[in-house]
Amino acid sequence: MVDTLVVLGASGDLAGRYLLPAAARLHAAGMLDDRVTIVGVDRGTADDDSFRAEAAKRLEHHAPDLPAPVVAEFVRRLRYHPADVTDPGDLGSALGSLRGPAVIYLALPNAIFLDTLRALAHHPLPAGSRLVVEKPFGADLADARRLNEAIHSCFDERDVFRVDHFLAKQTVLNVLGLRFANRIFEPVWNALHVSSVDIVWDETLALENRAGYYDSAGALKDMIQNHLLQLLALVAMEPPTSMSERDLRNGKVDVLRAVRAPDPARMAQLTRRARYTAGQVDARDVPAYADESGVDPSRETETFAEVTLFVDNWRWAGVPFRLRSGKALGRDHRAILVHFKPTPHQPFPDTAPADVLRFALDPDRVELAVNLNGAGDPFDLERAELAARFPANDLPAYSRLLVEVLRGDQTLAIRADEAEECWRIVEPILDAWAAGAVPLETYPAGSAGPA
Ligand code: BG6
Repeated sequence: MVDTLVVLGASGDLAGRYLLPAAARLHAAGMLDDRVTIVGVDRGTADDDSFRAEAAKRLEHHAPDLPAPVVAEFVRRLRYHPADVTDPGDLGSALGSLRGPAVIYLALPNAIFLDTLRALAHHPLPAGSRLVVEKPFGADLADARRLNEAIHSCFDERDVFRVDHFLAKQTVLNVLGLRFANRIFEPVWNALHVSSVDIVWDETLALENRAGYYDSAGALKDMIQNHLLQLLALVAMEPPTSMSERDLRNGKVDVLRAVRAPDPARMAQLTRRARYTAGQVDARDVPAYADESGVDPSRETETFAEVTLFVDNWRWAGVPFRLRSGKALGRDHRAILVHFKPTPHQPFPDTAPADVLRFALDPDRVELAVNLNGAGDPFDLERAELAARFPANDLPAYSRLLVEVLRGDQTLAIRADEAEECWRIVEPILDAWAAGAVPLETYPAGSAGPA
């Protein structure tokens, strides 16, 4: 049983925005075993008390609904150790006190993953320890391979959790429930009946002081290379034999292997990139991305990316999967849309739009838009929505991920080969964009994106 959660990069955005709130919510729900201590490590100068005070402040901001006494109780479980995590000696002293199995969480900038793993390799950890690595996993395919090698020099793959919090979102898992626990969808879930699939993650959120990370990532690496490709894998995979870690992950890897990397000669038709200029989102002034502090405009980092992919297998041949994500857009629109083909023959005088199945994410909803006879003239068609709404979940995706990691269940974790497949798909796009083959468009913050 794991008794320590070591967060490397304890003062970073990820720890403050996601990890500490996730752990605090588990504590509040009585789901974080009393024996588990959380040790924050980074190059700061804090001590236990100042780290706890800082953590309480961040929880006030990122988990404002947690009652103050619960937060006070939770932060008593935190400890702090200053260390340069890329320095073997420093890291060794931070990890020296570990007695039982620990979870080592790399909540770090991607650029120092490799050095951190190399430093970790100097210190055998207690048996049963696990590693958690965040996305983006590497900067390209070669980098992901190097990371996997470095990881495997100190951890068995069975103890490695490359996390993608989208997989723990409730409606995302509903894709599996709807597809594989019902008879009526799977027979039409293929190129004969589906015309296209949209996987959209439009956000009103802008940069949110994350230039340090985001400016070297951009929308393609931040969202499409990981989160949205994972959604594509769930939508397109073959029915697994069971929901076990092995069957589910094999299924995802199989379908990712069938995704064709966009043809370099067609990059301008198959991909788009854009960056927001100044505007207003929800009546708030948003400066141009290029003017945000910490941004280097000459990097031409995209805040909006759109990619059309094809899955080269029997089930999906010819069906476009459009993946899109953008920041500082006029409205939040987070959804998977499965567009069905029109009926082969329409006996009604009206023309009827084709059916659309929509998995809306945050707030969670599954909707099927269909044509029914109208309330008035029974020969008139009307559009109707059959909808299932889900109440907001008490446990955010990150809490669920932490539960899985602490339990040692890898079902929702990304396997080594899976991470590499995702880079194989995306890398030609990165190369084409870097070579200027696709122009960087602009869109005003608060708009619907580039024209
Ligand atoms: C993160 C991305 O992984 O996911 C962010 O880095 C994005 O840019 C976020 O805003 C969206 O997920 P959630 O769960 O915070 O809505």
